[in-house]
Amino acid sequence: MCGIIVYSGHRPAVPLTMDCLRRLEYRGYDSAGIAYIQQNKLQVIRSRGKLDQLEEKIGQHDVYHATTAIGHTRWATHGLPTETNAHPHTDNNKELALVHNGIIENFQEIRNSLEQRGYVFYSETDTETILLLISDKYKHIREKANSEDEAIARALSQALQEVEGSYALALINLNSPNEIWGARHSSPLILGAGTGENFIASDIPAFLPYTKDVVFLEDGELAKITANGWEVYDASSLNRIDKQINRIDWNVQSAQKGGYKHFMLKEIMEQPQVIKDCMAGRIDSANQRVILPELDHVSVPEQVHIVACGTSYHAGLWAKYIFESWSRVPVHIDIASEFRYRDNIFRENDLVLAITQSGETADTLAGLRIAREQNVPVVGLCNVMGSSVARESDGVIYTQAGPEISVASTKAMCSQMAAFLLLALYWGESKGTLSTEFLQNSIQDFISLPGILNSELARMQESGQEFAAKYSRSRSFFFLGRGINYPLALEGALKLKEISYIHAEGYAAGEMKHGPIALIDPEFPTLAIAPHDDLYTKLISNLQEVKARSGPVIGLTHPGSDLNLEDKWEIPKMWSALNSFLILPALQLFAYEMAVYLGKDVDQPRNLAKSVTVE
Ligand code: F6R
Repeated sequence: MCGIIVYSGHRPAVPLTMDCLRRLEYRGYDSAGIAYIQQNKLQVIRSRGKLDQLEEKIGQHDVYHATTAIGHTRWATHGLPTETNAHPHTDNNKELALVHNGIIENFQEIRNSLEQRGYVFYSETDTETILLLISDKYKHIREKANSEDEAIARALSQALQEVEGSYALALINLNSPNEIWGARHSSPLILGAGTGENFIASDIPAFLPYTKDVVFLEDGELAKITANGWEVYDASSLNRIDKQINRIDWNVQSAQKGGYKHFMLKEIMEQPQVIKDCMAGRIDSANQRVILPELDHVSVPEQVHIVACGTSYHAGLWAKYIFESWSRVPVHIDIASEFRYRDNIFRENDLVLAITQSGETADTLAGLRIAREQNVPVVGLCNVMGSSVARESDGVIYTQAGPEISVASTKAMCSQMAAFLLLALYWGESKGTLSTEFLQNSIQDFISLPGILNSELARMQESGQEFAAKYSRSRSFFFLGRGINYPLALEGALKLKEISYIHAEGYAAGEMKHGPIALIDPEFPTLAIAPHDDLYTKLISNLQEVKARSGPVIGLTHPGSDLNLEDKWEIPKMWSALNSFLILPALQLFAYEMAVYLGKDVDQPRNLAKSVTVE
């Protein structure tokens, strides 16, 4: 949700900033811009559209002398995605330029007051409001301050105290061209500490090729970088804060396409490895049991409340089935944006599980905070190390999936399901709800799963291609499943709609006859998740109802099934819930191939952004 990159160092800052922005483009891509200082002038280049359009404009300027720059890629909140609304914005004196991610809630009030005092606004954004507020403070403080450094720090500190809402921002100042300031409140911002160069960015992959040493900034902190150093301050008192450097073990290749046409395809294909990585260090194969040292201090809860959004919510819904069936732990699950405004009832020994790939989703974070205010322990299930949810939870299980760049989430859900499977076995063993034989079978089959999935993915992609081509003219789709396959039906529909823009709905198959079946006709196909499990025969009856209304059906099923369908898509049969790990990539590949067939922008679908850090 908007990407910020800041650089101060020894290299030409503009090309480097563009390189970093490319790895942030998944966060927003409706417009972009950079600001840098060259020949004693603050220069700003902005463009609507994607980074290629900005790159083309930059190509018309000599930009090679600047060694500090700030860059931004935007996902519009206030104001249309036009060049005028693109960041960076500059103040009225053309001394300061600012980039921002988040939403300023009291922007109108501040804007009115600044306009009354003669400030001119050029955009419709809330961002320009913070900038002009900082500029106003700076103008007054500067006359009395001992240095530029002090003046800008105090101006930032005072302005931010008047601002309500969420922000991650960075500010460049013509009067001290080598320093760049950053600040955060409820939006992510990370400092990258290099040698003779330093960075601030919304996300680690932005600067990963240049440094793996990162400092996680907290809400209410200001950071200053120069080429040779960095410092962090308390935003109110301006006292220095000692911060720890963390070494990130992600490799650069994991944030690149690695020969694949799209990040989404690469991430789907990585899923066998993702399962292995999630298992790593968590299975005691000698004793056939799961070990989760990160939960040593968290006892098995009496009830779990799951809070998540989007694909992570679907993973949570999937987990409900195995937590209840294997560990006998009751689960309440909510979409985070509902949870945060509901009167939740928590009991003693309850646990909140916040599921989030990015660890920065605003609603999930708000849910976590509500639980903690009520003294309910929270475990975060996150992918991004050091993210807000990871830091604010009482315990964190990292899914260890590596960076997920494609806006449509794929491998993150697989890793979340893998972690839940381990957790269900762990709790099941602790509570004595599972037999030794069940535990051993599950662990053995789970260990063999990556190999089976790996050998199947190429074939799955071919089937995905075939069915996508056949059904590419459809305007709508149903995805049906029962039991543990119901969350997968929801996810299949979400994937298809978000990247191919085909209307799709996921339903519990048994619910069709309560209304949705009215939509079925020969032009409205259904993808039925029909593995040979306990609910197979029930699902067949539901499909008969669809077929009786001439609805075409693709049946995703196991070899040897007696599904009487023209379009059967067979995938290998595994034991129990492990089937889901083969169904999920089939659904992802169907959506992927459909979007490719229709010529859509797979990695950057319209109107979306990864990491939804606003409410
Ligand atoms: C869909 C998708 C979103 C995210 C949702 C939550 O493909 O990516 O629905 O799953 O925005 O994001 P996280 O997991 O980062 O909290």
